[in-house]
Amino acid sequence: MPGLYEGLQHYLSQGLRSFHTPGHKGKREFFPGMRFPEGDLTELPGLDMLHSPTGIIASSQARAAEIYGAQASFFLVNGGTVGNQAMFLALGQAQGEVIVERQAHRSVMSALVLTGLTPRYLPATIHPEFNLPLGLDLKHTATCLGNALAWHFTYPSYYGSLIDLTQILGIRERDFPGLPVFVDQAHGAHYLHDLFPPGALAMGADAVLQSPHKTLSALTQAGMLHVQGQRLARHSLQQALELLQSSSPSYLLMASLEQALEFAQDRKRWAGLEEEVARLHHDTEGLRLLNREDEGRYGIWRVDWSKILVNTSSLGISAPECVEWLRRDEGIEPELWDGENILFMLGIGNTAEDVRSLNQALQRLRDGHKGSVRRNRKWPRLELPPQPPLRRTPREAFFGRKRRLTLRDSLGQVAAESISPYPPGIPIVVMGEVITPEVLETLQNRGVQWQGWEGYADQWIWVLDEG
Ligand SMILES: Cc1ncc(COP(=O)(O)O)c(C=O)c1O
Repeated sequence: MPGLYEGLQHYLSQGLRSFHTPGHKGKREFFPGMRFPEGDLTELPGLDMLHSPTGIIASSQARAAEIYGAQASFFLVNGGTVGNQAMFLALGQAQGEVIVERQAHRSVMSALVLTGLTPRYLPATIHPEFNLPLGLDLKHTATCLGNALAWHFTYPSYYGSLIDLTQILGIRERDFPGLPVFVDQAHGAHYLHDLFPPGALAMGADAVLQSPHKTLSALTQAGMLHVQGQRLARHSLQQALELLQSSSPSYLLMASLEQALEFAQDRKRWAGLEEEVARLHHDTEGLRLLNREDEGRYGIWRVDWSKILVNTSSLGISAPECVEWLRRDEGIEPELWDGENILFMLGIGNTAEDVRSLNQALQRLRDGHKGSVRRNRKWPRLELPPQPPLRRTPREAFFGRKRRLTLRDSLGQVAAESISPYPPGIPIVVMGEVITPEVLETLQNRGVQWQGWEGYADQWIWVLDEG
């Protein structure tokens, strides 16, 4: 096995064109004057303290707040992940209900374990053509939005689909004016121009996390948390961040964040890409791409054009096979894929030339397979079971005594692990929920790719030992 360094060198030597994170795409131009390794420093006399900033970090955070229209912004050196965790910890409650989407990022689930809060899950709307959770049925969601300690939403989804937050915030204003709304905008740090949907802060969210390393030029793991208003106690948030974040924050990360914010304001970089993406949509007609025509359907309010989601079903060829071909023959590396979809993610470091080569590759993919449709390669799809009842909080399930049971003996037990099929990535069962007959039947499906299930191969499952 080669060493890590050697593995990295080998990966880089392939020279693949990046349609994945980080957003800087390996371009030096985003780090003017950055000195490595000399600049790899942490808190020193003359520099500043991340956890109680008064100098250069404080002014840099103030600049971030100004750019995003926040009252305060906090730099995150452990990714957007700690933003999700800190918002829930800042509620200062170890009991009570919060409303979260069931397919929320795993950092939301870890926040529930850290806090002990009880989730009330909102079901996603699955787009039938992509078989992915791309929206929320707002009529249904409105009936689920009751009083709680907080509501949490993801905007945009990993795939670039957006829910109508204005409606949700309208309900909050009207019926629950004191209730904080948290937004995971990890994939939307670039929403600063009219080229993109509005950011969640501008719409009135109370706390919004972003991962500028995903679409902007900050180094991987650099994140931000923005806040406004009085609904969330600022000192609790600061305490939570101190609890979660490294005591040796990297100045390279923080400086890259500061520089990323300045580059982010350059509308021209994105405008050039938008034109090319519009051309790509036009030229690849016949391939199913998530596009503006999906707006207003399946709980999708808007679509972010900088994420290019391609469904390969019409080719009769699975997405993993397409990805293999794209890497080998076209030198293109996507962000992620499942059995039938491939996601290409643009960042501020991409060029029009990148999008043109993706455009040509997708056309070749489409044309090369016209007439030779191999329908037998279609990826199996899964019927999602009804959401099982919650018997223990995620925290109780995480810390409770556990035992392993064969799948067939687990009926009626409380799951002590969360298991999701991929796609669509929505958990069949979350830790703390009851294993119902429908859940059991779904888990017995062998033709599915599972995430988070340790005993899949031997068909056993972790359950709570409540005896
Ligand atoms: C929706 C969402 N939220 C939060 C995160 C966590 O962000 P980070 O990787 O910066 O910790 C991710 C990461 O992929 C994500 O997809």
